[in-house]
Amino acid sequence: MYSADVPVHLVSHPIAQNALLLLRSTASYPSRFRRLAERLSLIVTIDATRDLPTIDRTVQTPLEATVGQALSGDIVVVPVLRAGLVMAEAVLDLIPDARMGHVGLQRNEETAIASRYYLKLPPMSATTTVLVVDPMLATGGSACMALDLVHGAGASRVRLLSIVAAPEGVATIEAAYPDVPIYTAAVDRQLNEQKYILPGLGDFGDRLYGT
Ligand code: PRP
Ligand code: URA
Repeated sequence: MYSADVPVHLVSHPIAQNALLLLRSTASYPSRFRRLAERLSLIVTIDATRDLPTIDRTVQTPLEATVGQALSGDIVVVPVLRAGLVMAEAVLDLIPDARMGHVGLQRNEETAIASRYYLKLPPMSATTTVLVVDPMLATGGSACMALDLVHGAGASRVRLLSIVAAPEGVATIEAAYPDVPIYTAAVDRQLNEQKYILPGLGDFGDRLYGT
């Protein structure tokens, strides 16, 4: 079980928590669910990127020249398909120059063990900031597999962004990747026998896409 000193960054902004509450509700059907997931993903992304490197850059205002900070450095976002796509869109809204990889994983309905059906990653180096995005961190099996893949591709500066985590999933990531910080809007109570998060919000992908 995870302990209070694990590197979990709880996104506690009231607007995020309000969106999470509505997202959990069975009254939120795909269009509303999607809007809320997008909003929440934007706030999680802002929290998870507050220490991105910047460089000074000069611009000319209508009145005079001034110096401000421009984002610098290489950023890659890697959604775990399908559900991670909504978070990746939020990252690209905020960081349009980020590059994007895709990891397709599907949990087996009986065993809850994820298997891979798609992989395409851009070139990554030790200085690339990699944001692995997957809204649900349940057993942690899918996120762990995605982290294996990006580390195997050369990344070492990696963050995991989610929306709802289970203590079991946090513990899995902490054991395998203690240096990977986790950003999430909630660490829920536990998994049920089918490895769904309680209270959770059900199957994120199904609710997002109406499947
Ligand atoms: C869901 C979710 C995560 C995974 C979490 O995906 O989006 O990727 O389960 O569970 P885990 O931590 O126990 O691995 P799912 O396999 O249902 O695919 P989908 O996004 O296509 O619906
Ligand atoms: N995947 C989901 O979408 N929801 C859960 O509760 C667990 C895994």
